[in-house]
Amino acid sequence: MPPMRAISFELDGQVVAGEAEPRRLLSDFLREEFHTSRLHVGCEQGVCGACTVLIDGDAVRSCLVLAVEVEGRSLQTFRGLCSSEGVQLLIASVIERGGVQCGYCTPGIVTALHAALRDGPAFGSVDEVRELLDGHLCRCTGYEGLVQAILSFGAEEAVASCRVDPVAS
Ligand code: FES
Ligand code: FES
Repeated sequence: MPPMRAISFELDGQVVAGEAEPRRLLSDFLREEFHTSRLHVGCEQGVCGACTVLIDGDAVRSCLVLAVEVEGRSLQTFRGLCSSEGVQLLIASVIERGGVQCGYCTPGIVTALHAALRDGPAFGSVDEVRELLDGHLCRCTGYEGLVQAILSFGAEEAVASCRVDPVAS
């Protein structure tokens, strides 16, 4: 068995530490060692988007990252983002328009959307929304509700709220 490596990083605003085998996936590491159960795992091949987290602010598929690669970095998961007013508004909008059915895909989509709204303007067209959703599979095929929710989430104050660091808010 390969030797374990010590890892220290920031997780949803808290400095944490653990040990992982060199080939352990970040998605498994976060779920099993830090109980981030709302970080879902689907394909484990980088296709479905369910396992999306933010690493140093960038939306990344955690099943494509090794746990040892996050040493010294800052991670945000859906669990941490849920303290953001912008994310709460977004989730309410998605639920209201029927964009959540089983909810398995929702954390990954909301995490990616949070990063997109933090860095850019509100989505202005169906095509722009579909481009974001292109990398996220919803087995319940609730795409239309998601598209409508994301489009309706275009108010400037809602976008601005996504730019507030949820850890600091
Ligand atoms: Fe990571 Fe599907 S589980 S992209
Ligand atoms: Fe069920 Fe998307 S709501 S997978």
